Amino acid sequence: MKSFNLPKSVKIVEVGPRDGLQNERELVPVDVKIELVNRLSKAGFQNIEAAAFVSPKWTPQMASSEEVMARIQRRDGTVYSALTPNMQGYERAVQSNVSEVVIFSAATQAFAKKNINCTIEESIQRYIPVAQAAKRDGLRLRGSISCAFGCPYQGSVSSDEVVAVVKQMIDLGCDEIDIADTIGVGTAVQVQNVFESIFTFAQPSMFSGHFHDTYGQSLANIFAALQCGVSIFHSSVAGLGGCPYAKGATGNVATEDVLFLMDGLGIHTGINLEDVVSIGHFISNAIGIPNGSRAGRAILSKK
Ligand code: HMG
Ligand code: MG
Repeated sequence: MKSFNLPKSVKIVEVGPRDGLQNERELVPVDVKIELVNRLSKAGFQNIEAAAFVSPKWTPQMASSEEVMARIQRRDGTVYSALTPNMQGYERAVQSNVSEVVIFSAATQAFAKKNINCTIEESIQRYIPVAQAAKRDGLRLRGSISCAFGCPYQGSVSSDEVVAVVKQMIDLGCDEIDIADTIGVGTAVQVQNVFESIFTFAQPSMFSGHFHDTYGQSLANIFAALQCGVSIFHSSVAGLGGCPYAKGATGNVATEDVLFLMDGLGIHTGINLEDVVSIGHFISNAIGIPNGSRAGRAILSKK
């Protein structure tokens, strides 16, 4: 049997409450958001991206972030993370007792402009005080790099463009850096090329793969990333989501599908697949959308 050099365990960052719900057209009731986070907490996720302290004019769905953070039941051992695009967002996050703040830029100027209304360089300048404040306040600092494998405005993206932003995120003091396929166009060898370029100068343990499943490549890309030594993956229960500033991009890879893969590979996640299948069923029903997890639908159909 072919043996792959795979990690023994991985951390799954559940981004459904933020990346997943941010793209829903109808405002999702706050009680539903809170119930979703509470169920995910009970399932034992180490990190739940629960909120985004972005401009409510830009992403109205996230305007309830304060209320969500105030009313969820927090579990010891779970990190509750939130997007912070500037100091205003950072201060809101601190008020809400967030334990990890996420600064986010892009590998391409065009996407940075559309998503955060500034150039990559301006975003890094804007994040200097956020990073300093996070260090001062003892919060974890995560950086996210969108469009690392393709951009809806620029087209193809080179490894060098990703590496340039990774280096700046490292200089800012990020504890963890997300390499994101915002529009889900990356393929396995490209994923390996990007991670291998990064791992010539940085430790694999601080990088995550954030894959969207628009072209059905996310599980292949996760497997490719695992082989490079990546051991943190983002996913969204029921495959919720998309980015409002990347037209046509579908949700993140479904958490249930990632868990099915990890279970099959014998990689420890600390999360029970059946528990997440029922959460996927809950949230799809609650907001009236089809369940986007293949594994979730298969398991539910047998019940
Ligand atoms: P801007 O309009 O250039 O900001 O937006 P500004 O500084 O000029 O301020 C304009 C107004 O916004 C002011 O209010 C500010 O107070 C307010 P006014 O005086 O007009 O009444 N404002 C804020 N209000 C609340 N919280 C804040 C905040 N900041 C300013 N934090 C900005 C610049 C970055 C704020 C905006 O572009 C923004 O919020 N962008 C985020 C858009 C977004 O949510 N995108 C989706 C998330 S990223 C994503 O999904 C990708 C990811 O999943 C990885 C991947 O897959 O690629 C992470
Ligand atoms: Mg995303």
